[in-house]
Amino acid sequence: MGENTYPWKSVWITGASTGIGRQLALSLAASGVKVAVSARSAGKLAELAAGNPGVTAYPLDVTDRAAVAAAAAEINDAAGGIDLAIFNAGTWHPNAAVDLDGAKAAKSMAVNYLGVVYGIEAVLPHMRQRGLGHIAFTGSVAGYRGLPKSCHYGPTKAALINLAETLSIELNREGICVTIINPGFVDTPMTEVNDFPMPFLMTPEDAAGRILEKLPRKPFEIAFPWPLVRQLKFTQMLPPALYVRLIRRFLGSKAKPQR
Ligand SMILES: NC(=O)c1ccc[n+]([C@@H]2O[C@H](COP(=O)([O-])OP(=O)(O)OC[C@H]3O[C@@H](n4cnc5c(N)ncnc54)[C@H](OP(=O)(O)O)[C@@H]3O)[C@@H](O)[C@H]2O)c1
Repeated sequence: MGENTYPWKSVWITGASTGIGRQLALSLAASGVKVAVSARSAGKLAELAAGNPGVTAYPLDVTDRAAVAAAAAEINDAAGGIDLAIFNAGTWHPNAAVDLDGAKAAKSMAVNYLGVVYGIEAVLPHMRQRGLGHIAFTGSVAGYRGLPKSCHYGPTKAALINLAETLSIELNREGICVTIINPGFVDTPMTEVNDFPMPFLMTPEDAAGRILEKLPRKPFEIAFPWPLVRQLKFTQMLPPALYVRLIRRFLGSKAKPQR
């Protein structure tokens, strides 16, 4: 175990059984940070904890508000305060607009958005009591603008970006910092289902490395990889009507004239 060069003694990560969250936990634990890991897969979390001193498993479903509150209280007590919480659990299934499904949309919103809200709700009183703390959560560049196949996922990530802005404005004066993490494509179990090209696909190691390099500086946003982020951020400057017209033309879809 290396010397802890991070500004946190204790970190809670949700969505830590695989992918980006698991890699964040491994990197932090290797530096001597105490890491509490959560996800539904208790077996995977137990394996992670068994192989890495300083990692403790708190299995839960982030859509279970009471379970999230109980875990936060337990982790806070055990660690003497949560310095950094990374709410990273998420779910994605590509769906075309013609397959829009209310039940799938509700499930996506419950995990990706409410799962984060429940986590923040649970750590906030503890952080406010201490007058310090850092709350980070994983959005996506897919939250910048409406994208194809993203009718269930995209709105959850757009909501998180909006939430981060709201919270950052108000919590900063309480000594609590908020960071939104917006990755591009990362090669994890989540993206295994994708049957379309994923430009600038990164490894979870690379993604976690970029997050942990920037997070200590407490930025409002961490977004990567830059070549993809730059293009998508440019589209954010376009008025919505112009954006959809350009994307339709780019994708070659012939929209029916509106009456
Ligand atoms: N991969 C990408 O290209 C990409 C791009 C942009 C943003 N992101 C975001 O990055 C985050 C991490 O994704 P990833 O790529 O690392 O995918 P992943 O490997 O599939 O990880 C998703 C994690 O979320 C957990 N999870 C899912 N539903 C949960 C629930 N109801 N309760 C608790 N935990 C739950 C999963 O664990 P269990 O199944 O064990 O519960 C797993 O640990 C997500 O928020 C995702 O939207 C990913």
